[in-house]
Amino acid sequence: MATAQPLILPEAGPFALYVVMKATGDNKALIERCQQVHTLVDEINSQQPDAELRASIAFGKTFWASLEKGLPADFDDFEALGEGQVTAPATGGDVLLHLNSSRHDLNFYLLRQFISPIAEHVEIMDETYGFKYLDSRDMTDFVDGTENPKTLEARQDVALIKEGDFAGGSFVMLQRFVHNLPAWNRLNIQAQEKVVGRTKPDSIELEDVPAASHVGRVDIKEEGKGLKIVRHSLPYGSVSGDHGLLFIAYCHTQHNFKVMLESMYGHTDGKTDQLLRFTTAVTGAYFFAPSVEVLNSL
Ligand code: HEM
Repeated sequence: MATAQPLILPEAGPFALYVVMKATGDNKALIERCQQVHTLVDEINSQQPDAELRASIAFGKTFWASLEKGLPADFDDFEALGEGQVTAPATGGDVLLHLNSSRHDLNFYLLRQFISPIAEHVEIMDETYGFKYLDSRDMTDFVDGTENPKTLEARQDVALIKEGDFAGGSFVMLQRFVHNLPAWNRLNIQAQEKVVGRTKPDSIELEDVPAASHVGRVDIKEEGKGLKIVRHSLPYGSVSGDHGLLFIAYCHTQHNFKVMLESMYGHTDGKTDQLLRFTTAVTGAYFFAPSVEVLNSL
């Protein structure tokens, strides 16, 4: 099987960087720099043995189409969802650089190295530094990641395209959420648990998961089989400024993302995810992370 980009399968380390970029100049120079990312990462890892730095590079549909390498099946642009108070914007992007490591400084250092020779060919649309928070909690203080596929086999099965020209590749979904924690913290614990669908101290699924809770919206079965995605989300931000969750996930098909989003934003049955009363998406985009072999052949 083709080789997945190194970040995708291992569990996320404590620090991440999510960079969404727009191509503004010479796409050839930009692609060449993207192809060098994993070598840059290897160099840093050899100098800093504790770094555990890993990367993935992914491309938006319009940019990918311009490379004339064929389109992976069902590769769509992210479409805005919801209405009224509960909406998700589609903000796009040509290139996504996703880094994960045991050190915040090395994520910053790698991005500087990556950008410096191509600064005139690219504009950074969003640069967000994520960090593991407490015992892997989201800023709502609920554990995030309990039902994420755990074993390598399970993660491979969920995240990677299995056959064809794009085997080893993965679709990526990204949304940056800004939380309203004062509003969230006005709910008592029982009310918060009904919004999430799991218990707060130890993340146990409620006996009666409310249909409009977060878990009630995204734990979806099709023909008896649960839809799965591999999440790499982490909290981000500052106390005095925006803070929340940088949601990012990998999957062998966009279908699973689309079905979950439609369910969260009221398109499936009119019910919206109650968590969205306390957090708002300010970005939204789909990307495709090709296998290492396909990336090198661009
Ligand atoms: C589960 C938080 C957005 C998909 C969970 C859980 C929490 C959580 C606390 C329960 C523990 C776990 O299994 O990880 C959040 C927050 C979000 C957010 C705070 C936004 C601010 C999303 C989005 C999607 C999603 C946008 C997909 C479109 C999932 C899935 C599960 C999950 C698939 C596992 C459900 C299960 O199988 O039980 N999330 N989530 N989440 N979330 Fe989210």
